[in-house]
Amino acid sequence: MPKITVIGAGAVGATAAQRIAEKELGDVILTDIVEGLPQGKALDLMEAGPLFGYDSKITGTNDYKDIEGSDVVVITAGIARKPGMTREDLLKINAKIIKEVSQNITKYAPDSIIITVTNPLDIMTYVTMKTTNFESRRVFGMSGVLDSGRFAAFIAMELGCSVRDISAMVLGGHGDTMVPLPRFTTVQGVPITELMPQSAIQRLVERTVNGGAEIVDLLKTGSAFYAPSAAVTNMIEAVVKDTKRVLPVCAWLNGEYGKKDIYLGVPVKLGKRGVEEIIELKLNTDEKKALDRSAGAVSSGIDSLNALGI
Ligand code: APR
Repeated sequence: MPKITVIGAGAVGATAAQRIAEKELGDVILTDIVEGLPQGKALDLMEAGPLFGYDSKITGTNDYKDIEGSDVVVITAGIARKPGMTREDLLKINAKIIKEVSQNITKYAPDSIIITVTNPLDIMTYVTMKTTNFESRRVFGMSGVLDSGRFAAFIAMELGCSVRDISAMVLGGHGDTMVPLPRFTTVQGVPITELMPQSAIQRLVERTVNGGAEIVDLLKTGSAFYAPSAAVTNMIEAVVKDTKRVLPVCAWLNGEYGKKDIYLGVPVKLGKRGVEEIIELKLNTDEKKALDRSAGAVSSGIDSLNALGI
């Protein structure tokens, strides 16, 4: 069985461990800095195994040594933004956590593929790559799979159709500037631009962009974790089963889409080598403009990170 490590045993991490085990994608190592937390959740998940019929082993630990030989490492460690905290405060705290986590991955799991989930996503993925110095194909982030999942859910609700027939595409950074692409979003091959008026599409696009915030507003404390854990599990499945699925992923660009030295959400082919190919869509002028704006937002995040000297 592949060895899949999940760093951070909070809401997203523990639910991801559950999904990985239920799909028997591999054995799971769940780690956290809080003592007892990963051990308790891992044991609980092991005890669910006989009831749901999975043989994946889930081990909780506070010791990075246990991640040795991992095939895939998912990073969900971090803190959420608290009242009174600026974006820069959050950036600084989470960047330090990601740096420490990445140093341990380099030490104990130097051949692994890393999927970053911690926000602000595009910048944390950048920190992961810069710290580990892994080839960029082995370090990528979970954003577009979640955002396109949300877009697909809203389309299914609007049209009253099955989610199974929807293929949605969302590019760009994982934040206010993300770029849902209605022309590349289809119901059984038919673009939604032919199925709904522009006003409805615009409404669903806005709801997608605000998808994370809508959940935070409802929950009052904490943020989304069911869909984020489902999204990262889809990505892990593509890697460990080498399915070569085409998914929107936060990937390192080296000239693709006219961008360099930046992590940004684009469609990629995912397989056992990680990001095996970046797929360049033929964007129209408006779509290009929106992607440029999103890249600008990610670049300024990287600039503020560098200005903070992290
Ligand atoms: N090393 C390991 N684990 C850590 C560290 C660290 N240095 N610092 C914090 N953690 C752990 C916390 O102890 C906590 O259990 O990370 C976990 C984060 O869990 P939650 O607070 O429940 O956050 P969650 O909702 O899971 O979100 C995690 O994913 O979607 C993103 O925006 C979200 O950045 C956030 C991340």
